[in-house]
Amino acid sequence: MAACGGGGDSSTPATTTTPPTATTTNSAPTVSTAVGNQAASVGFDFSLDLSGTFSDADNDTLTITADFGADAKGLSLNGTEISGRPNSTGTITVTCTATDPDNASVSDTFAIDVTVDQSAIAATFNGAIDLENLEDYANQTVPNYITKINDGGNPITNAGATLGRVLFYDTSLSTDGTISCATCHVQSLGFSDPGIVSTGVEGGQTGRHSMRLINTMFAEEENFFWDERAPSHEAQESQPIQDHNEMGFSGENGRPDLDTLIAQMEATEYYEELFRFIYLDPEITEERIQEALAQFTKSIQSLDSRYDEGRAQVNNNNTPFPNFTANENAGKALFMQGPNNGGAGCNGCHRAPEFDIRPGSDHNGVFAVAGSTTEFDLTNTRSPTLRDMVGPGGSSNGPFMHDGSLATIRAVIDHYDAIQEPTSEPPLSEWRATIDNRLFPGGNPQRLNLTEAEKDQLEAFLLTLTGSSIYTDSKLSDPF
Ligand code: HEC
Ligand code: HEC
Repeated sequence: MAACGGGGDSSTPATTTTPPTATTTNSAPTVSTAVGNQAASVGFDFSLDLSGTFSDADNDTLTITADFGADAKGLSLNGTEISGRPNSTGTITVTCTATDPDNASVSDTFAIDVTVDQSAIAATFNGAIDLENLEDYANQTVPNYITKINDGGNPITNAGATLGRVLFYDTSLSTDGTISCATCHVQSLGFSDPGIVSTGVEGGQTGRHSMRLINTMFAEEENFFWDERAPSHEAQESQPIQDHNEMGFSGENGRPDLDTLIAQMEATEYYEELFRFIYLDPEITEERIQEALAQFTKSIQSLDSRYDEGRAQVNNNNTPFPNFTANENAGKALFMQGPNNGGAGCNGCHRAPEFDIRPGSDHNGVFAVAGSTTEFDLTNTRSPTLRDMVGPGGSSNGPFMHDGSLATIRAVIDHYDAIQEPTSEPPLSEWRATIDNRLFPGGNPQRLNLTEAEKDQLEAFLLTLTGSSIYTDSKLSDPF
């Protein structure tokens, strides 16, 4: 009956040399009903009553303890009950021991197998999402020369990023069921959109060009969007859902609001399973949506370019890279050097090796509202990383700038080579007052006077910043 093989002391018979009158014989506790193996599920309350497991012939009061091995997975013993909400899958081997006041004891060992309920996930994603076998988002290789690492206090977890992936690709997060984040952030295009502006629900148009969502974690600037209006990555993430023109849950003009969406998601079984798995309860909140989406976008990491191959072989960025052509190395030097040293000054704001925007940069002279000749927008001081401006096959991930006005890399270089002022008021005075003064030396718009050959070199260098894995990596792809 002692299934656990624990074996306490058996009772010690009195020896004949001692007078039998003074001795009472203690009976050790025994296992009366061995506990069989138990099944539990992540995020669901588990409880097991041990009060009938042990007995004691002397009716001694038994003290029960439990050993859960290395990982109790959130379970604990309270009195005679093992309870809690398991927080991960796997087997817990539990040894329960009953001890009487004479220190005689007996143990019972059994297993609690914790699995995850993912039947709706299995039916919806057909194997693309498996909570028992998560993709690795958290431990991607980051070379040691990447030093700007900013997880915003919300580090990537494999489970959180998996939920983020589902949210990112789910068109049911839009009011007309046709738009997801991926509509305007297309994996094969470096998570950008080829349109000058993007089209959201019911034909709504965004006010600005979409941004490539690459290496957002490897950047110092903490404010998001071209105009930096979102104070953090997390704060940014639920805004597109609530944007009237993007995903539509604005609560305006008869459209439902975020609470309506959350209620709809709570009635969706695969979200119930996903949120329960990650948060151990199925409650859906804006904050949880933000966290998960931000973890997914932070895991879009492009660090396998020819630039990275070269950078890994030298001690600093200014050394010529062994894997570069002479033109690419010349272009790198132009990028790095300031205009006073014959360079193009790009690194002053788009800093190698992350190529993130320098915090505190002002606007770069591009002043239009997308598609308009009469409206102006001088608020754009953030840029995506300059990595992955083209795809691995050389096709453009542009157009570029907040207004999508520069179709090619060459057009970008021409812009900085000879920055054009607005031709009239407004916005000329305001433009002059707000352009970054590095691009307005001595009160005049920058003239780099690059030769055609130098422009070719700068362009050749910018093309080396393109990686390959993010374009096809299945963990970043549509799971539906
Ligand atoms: C209808 C098109 C559209 C949809 C849908 C959309 N975005 Fe965007 N996204 C944009 C545009 C346009 C911008 C730039 C807007 C601006 O700066 O004003 C942008 C900017 C961003 C940024 C800022 C990047 C940076 O470096 O500052 C992030 C992050 C982002 N989107 C994530 C998402 C997520 C997550 C979703 C889904 C919840 C989403 N987007 C849905 C068009 C879209
Ligand atoms: C003074 C700071 C500054 C300097 C110097 C600078 N930039 Fe920029 N850059 C910006 C800002 C700010 C933006 C975003 C502006 C916008 O979209 O209106 C930007 C945007 C860009 C973009 C668009 C990115 C995209 O995803 O659409 C490219 C490409 C670019 N810069 C390349 C360069 C190159 C090449 C150089 C050197 C010739 C350079 N920049 C010099 C500040 C700077």
